[in-house]
Amino acid sequence: MEERLIIAIDGPAASGKSTTARLLARRLGYVYLDTGAMYRACALQARLSGISLEDEAAVEQMLRHLDIRVETSGEENVILLNGEDVSQAIRANDISKLSSDISALPAVRYRMVELQRALDARGGVILDGRDIGTFVFPDADLKFFLTASAEVRARRRWLELRQKGVDKPLAEVRQELEERDRNDAGRALAPLAVAEDAIVVDTGGMSVPEQVDTLHGLFLARLEGI
Ligand code: CDP
Repeated sequence: MEERLIIAIDGPAASGKSTTARLLARRLGYVYLDTGAMYRACALQARLSGISLEDEAAVEQMLRHLDIRVETSGEENVILLNGEDVSQAIRANDISKLSSDISALPAVRYRMVELQRALDARGGVILDGRDIGTFVFPDADLKFFLTASAEVRARRRWLELRQKGVDKPLAEVRQELEERDRNDAGRALAPLAVAEDAIVVDTGGMSVPEQVDTLHGLFLARLEGI
């Protein structure tokens, strides 16, 4: 029988996780889940509700009514917040920092992780995030940790922003990115970390197709070993 695996792809901001995960899922016929988008949707809800992250009661209240759904059937994840497609809105630059701050709150994480673990993995899944291999699916069949220098990652994010019409100095983009990584790596619950059994891939010198080919090759090698 063909093996259908749970694949975890973790790594810091703009390390190439989402693009690689999405394209690899397409190649393998697997379902892809962008867990970062879920924290972003949470941050957007907090912004829309005008709540402060320091106000624990308000956050808990927000979580009780939170309606986030991710449609994974198409190639791109469609993120629905209260039934509305927010897939673009959650990519706004100011939501990035807020999503990192809100994701450090244990109540938020437990809620998101519960949704992530409810994913039907029978057909094979790829999840990308910060804690998939360490916390969400510690028994995942295959774990990758993508890295690249801060310089390379900042340049990628800077280009992405420019394509969206946001003109920000590269140095500022880099500073925000590094600050978010520190924030993500420093939190108490499920921080950004390399799982013991993860394969670390430096995407710094790779094009997108090379990244996908590299992970695909490692996937095939793992299948042979099963
Ligand atoms: O695309 P980018 O790398 O900029 O970020 P993302 O993957 O969309 O994630 C946004 C934020 O959500 C991250 O900075 C993390 O703080 C948080 N996150 C998390 O805590 N755990 C995950 N599994 C995924 C994202």
